[in-house]
Amino acid sequence: MSEAIEPDIDVEALKEQGVDLEVAEKVAPEREIAVSVGDALVQVQNLTIKFGGLTALDNVSFDINRGEILGLIGPNGAGKTTCFNAMTGVYKPTSGKVLLEGRALNGLAQHKITRRGLARTFQNIRLFGEMTALENVVVGLDARHRTSVGGALLRLPTHTREEKSAVERGMALLEFVGIADHAHFLSRHLPYGYQRRLEIARALATDPKVLCLDEPAAGFNPAEKEELMALIRTIRDDGYTVLLIEHDMKLVMGVTDRIVVLEFGKKIADAEPKVIRDDPKVISAYLGEPEDDVA
Ligand SMILES: Nc1ncnc2c1ncn2[C@@H]1O[C@H](COP(=O)(O)OP(=O)(O)OP(=O)(O)O)[C@@H](O)[C@H]1O
Ligand SMILES: [Mg+2]
Repeated sequence: MSEAIEPDIDVEALKEQGVDLEVAEKVAPEREIAVSVGDALVQVQNLTIKFGGLTALDNVSFDINRGEILGLIGPNGAGKTTCFNAMTGVYKPTSGKVLLEGRALNGLAQHKITRRGLARTFQNIRLFGEMTALENVVVGLDARHRTSVGGALLRLPTHTREEKSAVERGMALLEFVGIADHAHFLSRHLPYGYQRRLEIARALATDPKVLCLDEPAAGFNPAEKEELMALIRTIRDDGYTVLLIEHDMKLVMGVTDRIVVLEFGKKIADAEPKVIRDDPKVISAYLGEPEDDVA
């Protein structure tokens, strides 16, 4: 506990003050809630990424429908992270495009893509290690609301209502992902699983339309993975659209509405989980194992 920064606000105090920690109201009160799977929110069209002679992504197209959890799976090196990187502006596509609500994202800087509503987490956790969990989330909120982290956390005399509510919104998000008890720990001192959850909270703080998670359960034991999948389901039920990269096919089966399968940069399947599970192409390409080992 010695690693905790001295708290200026805590969950219990917030609760005693009658602060409602429901994430949807606190974080994004004006957000449109997608309650059922709807039209194509994201369209990935003929996306190709080449690294020198290597085609990491080869003419890949798929839609992400409003309100769904779409799984993006495939063996190591299949191009999953490359696809995320192309969607979020880390890599410039060699050809093809990505549309969000019908508008092209090509050529936009990463932060502009975030502002347009596409947020992500990283396969290798990227947090501000010298900032607390709460500060990491408030930074995410900052992307949307003009709030200074210092002002919000130090409660300067110029502290505004907006700044105060950024802290409240940040706490609500930490509560939502289940790590509010560590709000004032430096993020580098958080247990690994908490860091993964914090990345999700930070991405949610940008009030995204689509939340892209790159192997969020990597390094988790089976019980932790189940808990995380439950959280992802809750996030979707809260009105977000989710793109979930997961290496473990069994894991995505239970949580996704639809699954896109990549192999060697190409899309080899795009269907409901139960169809994917029985697809011989997927079984041989992805697992190289008989069907019995899949379910
Ligand atoms: N910046 C890069 N420069 C060169 N090659 C790259 C780069 N990024 C990825 N690659 C290559 O592109 C291919 C796809 O990699 P990618 O990381 O997208 O796979 P992945 O499906 O996310 O795999 P994993 O399950 O291991 O995370 C691999 O052959 C990888 O080595
Ligand atoms: Mg990857």
